[in-house]
Amino acid sequence: MGMRILGWGTALPDKIVTNHDLEKTLDTSDKWIVERTGIRERRIGDSTGELAIAAGRRALQRANVDASSIELTILATTTPDQTVPATSAHVHEALALGGGAFDLNAACSGFVYGLVTANALLDAGAKRILLIGAETLSRITDWSDRNTAVLFGDGGGALVLERVAGEGQLLASDLGIDGTARSFLQSDIGAKIKMDGREIFKRAVRAMVKSSEQTLKSAKVRANEVKLVVPHQANIRIIHAACDRLGIAQDRAAIVLDRTGNTSSASIPLALVDAIDKGRLADGDLVLLTGFGAGMTWGSALIRWQEPTSK
Ligand code: COA
Repeated sequence: MGMRILGWGTALPDKIVTNHDLEKTLDTSDKWIVERTGIRERRIGDSTGELAIAAGRRALQRANVDASSIELTILATTTPDQTVPATSAHVHEALALGGGAFDLNAACSGFVYGLVTANALLDAGAKRILLIGAETLSRITDWSDRNTAVLFGDGGGALVLERVAGEGQLLASDLGIDGTARSFLQSDIGAKIKMDGREIFKRAVRAMVKSSEQTLKSAKVRANEVKLVVPHQANIRIIHAACDRLGIAQDRAAIVLDRTGNTSSASIPLALVDAIDKGRLADGDLVLLTGFGAGMTWGSALIRWQEPTSK
């Protein structure tokens, strides 16, 4: 058994914080941020639960399925609203979902971890799963630290996934973690993010390339057959370096970070849905999702795109 994608949705807070806004409080410039990261603005506000609920509601509407038919909700987040209970409990109640729900924390690789987990649970017998990535990184960002404050933002994205006979849309995947690198990006409970940007940069490119290559190899697919790469949206230079090393043209990457900044586990669904909305995908196209994050985690998944209506 495999999975098919039935619907999708995203949510962003209303408040836009531009690089020029940050210039007023930090020793930084729009020029530096754009050149070094590709980010122009980010959205700030709401709670993780609110963003997850809004994205999940849109995905259910797009899928045209009843919320009670969802048998499991997986919320990938590194910024839950409370330590206990899981933020997915709020989402489950607000959307009147069926079945169980849990949060998953694999930092910025969380959505890919969630997709691979959902696929396995569908294969094991679940019928319908709501997968969400939602974050309010602004709450754990030190707004006086120019090394990190320019990078992060808030947002959410969701997919409704359904069990299907046969291979389904997820063709291959790769998940990994190197716990020896966990000090390079961390936030203690109640504290703000601390990061060694240069170290993360190097390791991020390496991890995305290796994990993508492993995934393509498992699926027996060549890099030039990939129609769209949906990378974690951390830094445009990381994305371009990874594309170059993989031999995939840079313009095949889905990009939203200029408008969203790094939204951790929300970044891949935000970029995927943006590409769908722009009509960048047709039936049969191969889509490579690839991300990295604190841990350091990494994860890649190869999907064969299928318009839900054409099934
Ligand atoms: N504005 C202006 N100058 C800044 C700045 C800012 N916001 N942030 C750092 N600088 C300065 C540094 O202090 C340094 O100055 P110095 O040379 O006088 O010491 C200079 O710019 C270069 O710093 P460096 O860290 O080498 O810059 P960089 O090109 O590596 O870019 C990051 C910094 C953080 C943008 C980049 O390393 C990065 O994106 N790393 C990955 C981070 C990431 O992805 N995190 C999330 C993982 S999920």
